[in-house]
Amino acid sequence: MSSATNTLPTGWAWYVAILTVLSLLWCLWILVNNSKKIEPKDQPELHGQNVWDGLREYDNPLPKWWSNLFYITVIFAVGYLALFPGLAILPGYLGWSSTDRYKKEVAEVNAEVDPIFNAYLKQDVATVANDKGALQIGGRLFQTYCVQCHGSDMRGSKGFPNLVDADWLYPGTPDAIKTTIMDGRVGAMPSFAGQLKPEQIKDVSQFVLTLSGRSASKDAALRGEETFKQICSACHGASGKGNVALGAPNLTDDVWLYSGTAAAIEEAVVKGRAGVMPAQKDQLGEARVHLLAAYVYAQSREAAPKTPAQ
Ligand code: HEC
Ligand code: HEC
Repeated sequence: MSSATNTLPTGWAWYVAILTVLSLLWCLWILVNNSKKIEPKDQPELHGQNVWDGLREYDNPLPKWWSNLFYITVIFAVGYLALFPGLAILPGYLGWSSTDRYKKEVAEVNAEVDPIFNAYLKQDVATVANDKGALQIGGRLFQTYCVQCHGSDMRGSKGFPNLVDADWLYPGTPDAIKTTIMDGRVGAMPSFAGQLKPEQIKDVSQFVLTLSGRSASKDAALRGEETFKQICSACHGASGKGNVALGAPNLTDDVWLYSGTAAAIEEAVVKGRAGVMPAQKDQLGEARVHLLAAYVYAQSREAAPKTPAQ
């Protein structure tokens, strides 16, 4: 028996509790008042002028069977409030709560599926990626936990990488993909607004455009090349091919995490970029991550030959 947590704010909890107790007391008061025996000496009185069509209304007590039924409902209510958290301010003797019940149901389902999921941990990710059953599970997990950022087609969107284009920010090996999902990743590019003049930012951005063969101003690009070599190459590499150890994107392949326009490139330099892939190991556990890594690996491998990027 676990203790129930009160999910109502205290003000509302007291409001509910007081209203419930008052209405119970009120019910009791009505019952007691209307069950009073009338002294034999006072004849049942005519109640006001309530005579209608020959029927007279007397001040008789409520029928016993009827008021007893009502007493039973009041006793039931008191018992119920003692056992369950109906009073909102008290957890109830049984300690029942909808949250606990939900957790219990999840635990029951997990007890059933965990052995199935855990069995895949005995094989490496690349092997699991060839198992049809495992890929079906992985696909369902992906649709539940990953689509809000990477899209149901896994193609991502601005700031959220496409996972099926064979272009990797971080290493695309099966084990590295698992590490990415387990521990998360932060792609940290600092802002260079303090270090570079606006002109230099424009120039280096024009140079970045030429790396992937986009049209750019030649003169500006020539001036920008120097800045790139001095500053940007530390992470993006001397030839701009990126660095998977840092998550620094390849700038030569015309695959963009944000966008390949001059404005977007300048924005990256001015504001910096910091895409965050949240760690999943605490929420999902290793077995599910293992299956997800196999699924992502299998999907990207399948999609790779169709992508012109490489
Ligand atoms: C809150 C949004 C969010 C969710 C949810 C999310 N991701 Fe990510 N993911 C990202 C971002 C952002 C990046 C890129 C990080 C960066 O810019 O360095 C990323 C990167 C990745 C990468 C590396 C891609 C590469 O090119 O190296 C993989 C693999 C990945 N995610 C898989 C998953 C899987 C599997 C799930 C589901 C468990 C998931 N992600 C859930 C936001 C998310
Ligand atoms: C300290 C390492 C570091 C340096 C120095 C650096 N970058 Fe980056 N850059 C990154 C990382 C990491 C990312 C990915 C950010 C993310 O995942 O959100 C990135 C992203 C970018 C992007 C976005 C690419 C896309 O696909 O949308 C551009 C453009 C860019 N950098 C240009 C530059 C330029 C130009 C310079 C030099 C002025 C530079 N970077 C210097 C690490 C660096």
